[in-house]
Amino acid sequence: MESSSISKIDLHEFLESLIKGLESKDLYTSGHSERVAHLAEKIACKMELNPEEIFKIHIAGHLHDIGKKGIKGSVLNKKEN
Ligand SMILES: [Fe+2]
Repeated sequence: MESSSISKIDLHEFLESLIKGLESKDLYTSGHSERVAHLAEKIACKMELNPEEIFKIHIAGHLHDIGKKGIKGSVLNKKEN
């Protein structure tokens, strides 16, 4: 399969599902990446960026916490002392 055969909609839906799965073990930030993606997109629109840049910024918003993927839920949800 060529990478160009994956539509932007498919990529977006895949990444949203991936991130929702990741956030399901982090009660504090559930839905956070979705909110960041939409706020980043609104800012990009105000900046009058082109649609391709706006899409990339939206996707970056979804992925900004991807580093949490390798962190245990007990660490992510640890209460502060
Ligand atoms: Fe999204």
